[in-house]
Amino acid sequence: MSCSGLLENYVAAMVLSAVGDTLGYCNRKWEFLLSGQEIHRQVAKMGGLENISIEGWKVSDDTVMHLATAEALVAAGKQPVFPKLYSLIAQHYKDCMDDMAGRAPGSTCVQNALSLQPDQPEGWRIPFNKHEGGCGAAMRSMCIGLRFCHPEQLDSLIQVSIESGRMTHHHPSGYLGSLASALFTAYAVQCKPPHEWGKGLMDVLPLAKAYIKKSGYFVKDNLNHWSYFEEQWKKYLKIRGISDGVSAPTFPSAYGVKERDEFYVSVSYSGWGGSSGHDAPMIAYDAVLGAGNSWAELANRAFFHGGDSDSTAAIAACWWGAMYGFKGVNTALYGGLEFRERLEKIANDLYAISQLELSFKHSGGSRVMRQNKVINIQLEAGVSN
Ligand SMILES: *[C@@H]1O[C@H](CO)[C@@H](O)[C@H](O)[C@H]1NC(C)=O
Repeated sequence: MSCSGLLENYVAAMVLSAVGDTLGYCNRKWEFLLSGQEIHRQVAKMGGLENISIEGWKVSDDTVMHLATAEALVAAGKQPVFPKLYSLIAQHYKDCMDDMAGRAPGSTCVQNALSLQPDQPEGWRIPFNKHEGGCGAAMRSMCIGLRFCHPEQLDSLIQVSIESGRMTHHHPSGYLGSLASALFTAYAVQCKPPHEWGKGLMDVLPLAKAYIKKSGYFVKDNLNHWSYFEEQWKKYLKIRGISDGVSAPTFPSAYGVKERDEFYVSVSYSGWGGSSGHDAPMIAYDAVLGAGNSWAELANRAFFHGGDSDSTAAIAACWWGAMYGFKGVNTALYGGLEFRERLEKIANDLYAISQLELSFKHSGGSRVMRQNKVINIQLEAGVSN
């Protein structure tokens, strides 16, 4: 594993997430195509993943909102004050709705983002809603794990992923998806082996619940609807044999395109795999577990399937990039990626502020000191408070 929490991993995480999103979306054609086999046929007809160029293909709403989250995190600076950070995130979510033409945004995201009032106290909050368990919060929160990547920042990761998530998806299934996407990104940066991540999430859920209680906002509704996400994840981890966080995952002997489509449907809420907060990160996780360090296999499993393919792709590719960098990815594939410069810049900025904070807290670590030298130049160029 080339994973080492270096700048390249941050850039790959942001850029490849957008590449995955673009491929899974295919200008709206593949996100809503319900047959993985048909998508695989079309990919083969183009000469396979190695022969695809995404020149002229748009990123979906997923990447636009992921960028919004990342840019708000950077705008908040290296010592973020949380209510202020939440106002910034709300402002970015609201503003990014101007750039949704041709990107198939979810109606929950659009309506709720536009209703936010970032300049009012608590204007970044919306009421509980039992229909907001969709994947719109999970598809945009990975960068929170890049920002708060260190184990001692877990509290910040939990709070920010939950509060940014429930700005549009105030339902546990929605915002716990946001938590899962962020947490697994942090695990990837920490070089924690993927088969341990699921158990890690189960161990973090009680902390998330404690935060919800402490925050004092629609506590009863949230607790009443808490169990679905947790139960679905427990079931999934048991199926793969990784509940203990130690064992290697087991897959069915036949687990091709068709069987995966069926499995993705089976873990879904409404029959469209990956469209909910619990199953978008779950399918992305299943793909990462099965693909190892193979980018092509990750694409087969997370980008090209009959479910909500751009969301599972954006999440899985981010984790993969955070672990493996650009290893084995054909540069011709993403030469024409939309927003490429913006993605690379924000990855640099996220790297700079996440590393800087570490150096304040733990001066003396040799790896930390080495990395600080590398980032000093970028700091002056990029980070504003
Ligand atoms: C690769 O893509 C090009 C351009 O899109 C196309 O003309 C060519 O036929 C493809 N190659 C294969 C082997 O399908």
